[in-house]
Amino acid sequence: MEKININKRLKTISAYLLDSKKMLDIGCDHALLGVYACLNNQNINVIASDIREKPLIKARENIIKYHLEKRIKIKKADGLEAMEENVDTVVISGMGTLNILKILENINNYPSVSNIVLSPNNDFVLLRAKVQELGFQIIKEEIVKDNNKYYLIILFNKGKEKTDNFFGKLDLSNTINIDYFRYLYFKNKQIINQINNDYHKKELLIKQNDMIRKKVDLK
Ligand SMILES: C[S@@+](CC[C@H](N)C(=O)[O-])C[C@H]1O[C@@H](n2cnc3c(N)ncnc32)[C@H](O)[C@@H]1O
Repeated sequence: MEKININKRLKTISAYLLDSKKMLDIGCDHALLGVYACLNNQNINVIASDIREKPLIKARENIIKYHLEKRIKIKKADGLEAMEENVDTVVISGMGTLNILKILENINNYPSVSNIVLSPNNDFVLLRAKVQELGFQIIKEEIVKDNNKYYLIILFNKGKEKTDNFFGKLDLSNTINIDYFRYLYFKNKQIINQINNDYHKKELLIKQNDMIRKKVDLK
């Protein structure tokens, strides 16, 4: 069988799916995450869903290529419309936080879902805050650097433990996580110097950089 070519971010997400039995991948695009997850976990079945028809053509090709037709079901659906009985894990990766939050709005209508794995494109702070408000707690998270970009991968399960929205559960002794906060610090600094009239935003970024300076060695 042809070796699967999958990026570091999706590979890392798949490691969060080793105990899952039924996973819904919302916005699956090419369905490579589902394929990789099936190849690495013999007990998992997958629903690969996307709101657009076009990516699902590629998804179907990939599923056939790896002979996973019996384990991966394709669905054209908007967000949680693709939900089925016994789904224990929902994955949403490669979307903006606002889109992710809109999709998750009614997640509590589906009590079988105990795990949510998210990899947002932006606004990690808002994502942590809002998903915790939905009654999910952060179990683990990490930053992945792929193609010179930083990605967050975060696992939630049901629960009420509250974690800081800014640092989350990122391990600040891990080099990549430290690199990410250094990068954010200098990016914030650049923006702060350019802001002329949005004082609210300026204040927020200054506050973020104060927090980073207290915890991360910037030299
Ligand atoms: C950038 S791709 C990410 C693909 C893959 N999940 C990844 O992480 O590489 C985002 C995909 O989400 C799909 N999408 C966006 N909004 C959606 C929604 N509300 N429901 C289902 N799919 C959605 C898009 O059509 C697109 O294929």
